[in-house]
Amino acid sequence: MLKRQALESDLEALVVVFTTAVHALAGGAYTAEQCHAWAPIPPDAEGWRSRLSGLKVMLACEGEQLAGFIGYARSGHVDLLFTAPPFARRGVATALFGAACADMRRAGAQRLSTEASLAARPFFERQGLTVVGEEEVLRQGVALRRFRMTGDLRLPDA
Ligand SMILES: CC(C)(COP(=O)(O)OP(=O)(O)OC[C@H]1O[C@@H](n2cnc3c(N)ncnc32)[C@H](O)[C@@H]1OP(=O)(O)O)[C@@H](O)C(=O)NCCC(=O)NCCS
Repeated sequence: MLKRQALESDLEALVVVFTTAVHALAGGAYTAEQCHAWAPIPPDAEGWRSRLSGLKVMLACEGEQLAGFIGYARSGHVDLLFTAPPFARRGVATALFGAACADMRRAGAQRLSTEASLAARPFFERQGLTVVGEEEVLRQGVALRRFRMTGDLRLPDA
């Protein structure tokens, strides 16, 4: 699986992965109303352009297909992590997360934080992060529960 930095031309495929991941992979943890508020169909492409502009975005690709992506700040925050449903549970997010952590370490970050969805919490726990708080975020007026999680980047697994 190839990993590379995202280009402007990847935006459309990346938004498709986000939208399908939310509806197919997070759908067991959130209601249909919550999924539609989180990942509207059709998606807001312009909103995505500005959302990604401040982040480092790395893609995992298999051939021509986008298997997943991670968006993060090198200072130690993971904003986005989504795997395309056909590639779920094949180590895509683990590979992306590991590469992002290595990049954060190179930038001197020592702590890692994220706001994990109900669906992503087990993944981040597996990576060694722990829950430090619970919160509700509003998307289009609909509340979604999520967890604030942190980890130590000095440890090899986080
Ligand atoms: C969370 C997500 C990114 C994980 O992607 P993935 O590529 O399937 O993850 P991996 O294959 O690297 O999983 C590694 C390990 O994490 C854990 N894990 C991943 N998904 C899990 C799930 N749905 N339930 C329980 N454990 C899970 C398992 O321990 C897994 O190892 P295993 O498959 O050997 O049991 C993906 O399910 C997703 O896009 N979810 C929907 C969107 C979302 O919530 N994104 C995060 C926003 S904060």
